[in-house]
Amino acid sequence: MAQAQLKIAPQHQAIPNPASHAKVLAVNGLGKSYDSQARVLDDINFDLHAGELVAVIGRSGAGKSTLLHVLNGTIPASEGEIRHFAENGKQQNIVELNARQMRQWRSECGMIFQDFCLVPRLDVLTNVLLGRLSQTSTLKSLFKIFPDEDRARAIGLLEWLNMLPQALQRAENLSGGQMQRVAICRALMQNPKILLADEPVASLDPKNTRRIMDVLRQVSENGISVMVNLHSVELVKEYCTRAIGIAKGRIVFDGHPSQLTDSLLHTLYGEEMSQLN
Ligand SMILES: Nc1ncnc2c1ncn2[C@@H]1O[C@H](COP(=O)(O)OP(=O)(O)OP(=O)(O)O)[C@@H](O)[C@H]1O
Ligand SMILES: [Mg+2]
Repeated sequence: MAQAQLKIAPQHQAIPNPASHAKVLAVNGLGKSYDSQARVLDDINFDLHAGELVAVIGRSGAGKSTLLHVLNGTIPASEGEIRHFAENGKQQNIVELNARQMRQWRSECGMIFQDFCLVPRLDVLTNVLLGRLSQTSTLKSLFKIFPDEDRARAIGLLEWLNMLPQALQRAENLSGGQMQRVAICRALMQNPKILLADEPVASLDPKNTRRIMDVLRQVSENGISVMVNLHSVELVKEYCTRAIGIAKGRIVFDGHPSQLTDSLLHTLYGEEMSQLN
């Protein structure tokens, strides 16, 4: 399949993308139960379009991380469908993929995990190159043999996120904000069509928070669909083009962040309202 390369541009200079706004996912009747417990996700329905920057919001335990993991395929759905519309016109239901197809899907649907999932003893550059793992043979990646064009792209991404000086430093010696940027580079290294980020700014200082949110905005402006779990309503209103509010595993709001009224936020967060910023 033709893979559109992410154009690396200075902040806020959107590059027009003809595929912008095309539907990339249609989620229908999606449900998830862990073991025999009550449903953690219940009848989730929404469409995702190219270029959207969608916040997923809701109180702790609402099901936000579960939703991203089910979309990415790292946690299997219990019911419903996740229909993916590829650029070549093909459609597939993510919940029905076999192991090989699932690996391919994960290379198109990048995920930034809450705990970064970097390899601590490997240097930053290799960690980023591991984003190409699904397109590189295991043996080659074991010996860190990556094509020159991959290395050039990894260096370009690190430079873009001001991480080039740390390229040869072990990941375990980075600060939280630096690890977060490396995790973003690794996810972008796979040229994803969709980028899922689970609380990418949790525990970051304000400067690094804005840096990461600026990057996610720029990624979405390049035509990639971005879904991001956020706890800050202020950031949602400033950066996101859409918010999906989840309470007890169900969507209770899906609209523009400016429509998030106090009463809606109260429905979403209950007594956690006082902890919001
Ligand atoms: N592996 C698991 N096994 C059983 N229950 C789980 C598992 N993972 C999550 N849950 C439960 O599913 C519910 C939703 O969890 P999830 O992590 O999706 O919430 P969240 O909205 O991301 O919360 P937070 O804001 O705290 O990260 C919670 O009640 C949680 O205890
Ligand atoms: Mg979570």
